[in-house]
Amino acid sequence: MSPDPTRDPTAPEDRPTFVTHLECGLTGEAYEADTLRGLSRAGKPLLVRYDLAALGRSLDKEALARRPAELWRYREFLPVRRSENIVSLGEISTPLIRLSRLEPAGGMLLVKDEGRLPTGSFKARGLCMAVSMAKELGVTRIAMPTAGNAGAALAAYATRAGIESYVFCPDDAPEPTISEIAYQGAKVYRVNGLINDCGKIVGEGKAAMGWFDLSTLKEPYRIEGKKTMGLELAEQLGWQLPDVIFYPTGGGTGLIGMWKAFAELGATGWIGAKRPRMVAVQATGCAPIVKAFEEGKEFAEPWPDAHTIAHGMRVPVAVGDFLILRAVRESGGFAIAVSDEAILEAQAEAARTEGLLLCPEGAATLAAYRQALADGRVAPGERAVLFNCATGLKYPMPPVTARLDRHKPIDYAAL
Ligand SMILES: Cc1ncc(COP(=O)(O)O)c(C=O)c1O
Repeated sequence: MSPDPTRDPTAPEDRPTFVTHLECGLTGEAYEADTLRGLSRAGKPLLVRYDLAALGRSLDKEALARRPAELWRYREFLPVRRSENIVSLGEISTPLIRLSRLEPAGGMLLVKDEGRLPTGSFKARGLCMAVSMAKELGVTRIAMPTAGNAGAALAAYATRAGIESYVFCPDDAPEPTISEIAYQGAKVYRVNGLINDCGKIVGEGKAAMGWFDLSTLKEPYRIEGKKTMGLELAEQLGWQLPDVIFYPTGGGTGLIGMWKAFAELGATGWIGAKRPRMVAVQATGCAPIVKAFEEGKEFAEPWPDAHTIAHGMRVPVAVGDFLILRAVRESGGFAIAVSDEAILEAQAEAARTEGLLLCPEGAATLAAYRQALADGRVAPGERAVLFNCATGLKYPMPPVTARLDRHKPIDYAAL
């Protein structure tokens, strides 16, 4: 990583941020904040820690309610110190959409539709934060492995920040995302392997190329951006958390981030003791977290021969496995795998019955919700939130074959 020579490390801070230090997610070892860092000495993710008592004294819910409906409204809970370093493309608050036709009687089924964010996925939350912090800490070159959406968000924010970006994705990643990555200014390469193979290329090339490695959870700030899903959800629900949250889990940043958000909100006294059960949703063709959960293990074993149509969940090895499993267990939740057939069925059903286009990973949460209702792990009367993590528009849809010849008489009754 080559530092930005124009950066003045002595420039005054102008944003109220309450960051105290970074902490190893496994050992608890503390590290100084505001310096560029990857994994901890134990090779595990670093978590950002805040002075939550001071934060709670400096901001109240009423002041928060007057701010624009966007991610940066939570700035006291976020790490960026200087406003000039914020790299933004308009990270709006995403809507909660009720699926009243699909929900059971007496229950409430809500979808948080993250497909409305810049670059069409929740990856914008993590990447706007990580790129802003990279800019603040003087990074000039970033590299990242991706299933597609994270690369699209990196490309957009890095280009906006004037940072060079290199992106490596499995060669079967969804075509529109690969084109989007390239068009938005990153150097993108298709790799004949899975996301962990792409990660190896980044790891092995970073010394020679001067890259800062922005892989999932290998730097501390993507999780802070993803945490805003939890802050936003709590605020949207009047500071009353739902009974259960279904999250499509690849690297698990969002699940870990939301669990962190709820702990931070609890420490500031903004929410009571009630927490949702966190459900990690994976595909039957790649379910390392589900297997570890069921076997009572702290860490997951690499999943051999990983395959699923839900590319974002095709992550055979996750560096934050123990943090996902910890959040799921602490919350009294569970991990569940759904088949590709169930994902496609759920996707079609949400589109046809509710008019809501889900991405395959979002559809997996609907399939998992139904499976959990059927096996009794979720009760019909509970309030459940599903995460649709990307716009359905980036993925293949069934072809349309019906045609009309405008030069011939049209049989309207047969339409
Ligand atoms: C559409 C989609 N859903 C889910 C995920 C998994 O997200 P996470 O890494 O936070 O578990 C990804 C990640 O690539 C994704 O692109």
